[in-house]
Amino acid sequence: VKRIGVLTSGGDAPGMNAAIRAIVLTAAHHQIDVVGFKHGFIGLLQQDYQPLMTHHVDNIIQRGGTILKSARCPGLHTVEGPRHAAATLHELNIDALIVVGGDGSFRGALAIAEHYQGQIIGVPGTIDNDVDGSDMTIGYATALDTALDAIDKIRDTADAFERIFLVELMGRHSGYLALAAGIAGGAEQIICPEFGPLDPHNLQHIITPIQHAQLLRGKASYIIVVAENSYPGGSSALAEALTNAVGVECRACILGHIQRGGSPVGADRILATKLGAFAVELVINGEHLQMAGEVSGTLQGYPLAKTGDRSKAIDPYLVRWQQQIGRN
Ligand code: F6P
Repeated sequence: VKRIGVLTSGGDAPGMNAAIRAIVLTAAHHQIDVVGFKHGFIGLLQQDYQPLMTHHVDNIIQRGGTILKSARCPGLHTVEGPRHAAATLHELNIDALIVVGGDGSFRGALAIAEHYQGQIIGVPGTIDNDVDGSDMTIGYATALDTALDAIDKIRDTADAFERIFLVELMGRHSGYLALAAGIAGGAEQIICPEFGPLDPHNLQHIITPIQHAQLLRGKASYIIVVAENSYPGGSSALAEALTNAVGVECRACILGHIQRGGSPVGADRILATKLGAFAVELVINGEHLQMAGEVSGTLQGYPLAKTGDRSKAIDPYLVRWQQQIGRN
């Protein structure tokens, strides 16, 4: 292997820069050149790339975002897109491509593999932690801390005003981040897809615990963490419905993209360093269509085609605890 391509794709995640750094440093150690494609797969389609030398990755491990930029790439979903991307890789003599992103990005990589003679390796980078084959994805730990910081702050104002707050967290279709942040933030309720769909015409199971908490314990603040896409019309609509039903002012706070930013926490820098370095080792070992993952403390390859299977359940112990004891 003489030359590796790397790109970051989909929703950026804190720690992507640390992964790029690990890839470049590990490749340099093995006398392998690295080319970085800009704006995800768009860089492949538009031949927008730059050589990545070790000095390019100085001073980036602590930075959020990605020096390569990221994007979603509709062009890759055309018939010609994957063929075109593969042609770029062949033209530039890229022996292997490393894609840092989520399962959507890996689907794009699989489409390119149909036309590409080289190797493709994935590195899981998304705040959603919804990729099979690795206990944690790069960016999740930082997003969790960001969400907690926000929940703690909202608790102060909720307490002062004696309001109910809904805090909406990202996760796309996964409640991983919402469940963890809700539990660690001491939320009174957590709403996430894994607990079943919400019926706007039957919210009594949410309303009753609020009423109990107010009547029995005189709770001054009440925080409900809501995973995005849990309620038709979003958490603002749910806040309005609850205000009407309970008769106490209920506000929604949508954290949004703030969860994707910021300096990666130590756990994400370490994970990104391990997975980035391991991805290069997988390339050197001749692996193809594998994702670099870490399961129970062991680095291992996982078939790229299975990363979106959604067999990664959110922590069943926490789910049980929250449903039986944590909800109040
Ligand atoms: O996958 C990461 C993520 O931040 C999801 O949590 C969220 O649903 C989505 O990306 C938002 O995408 P965009 O930045 O394109 O609005």
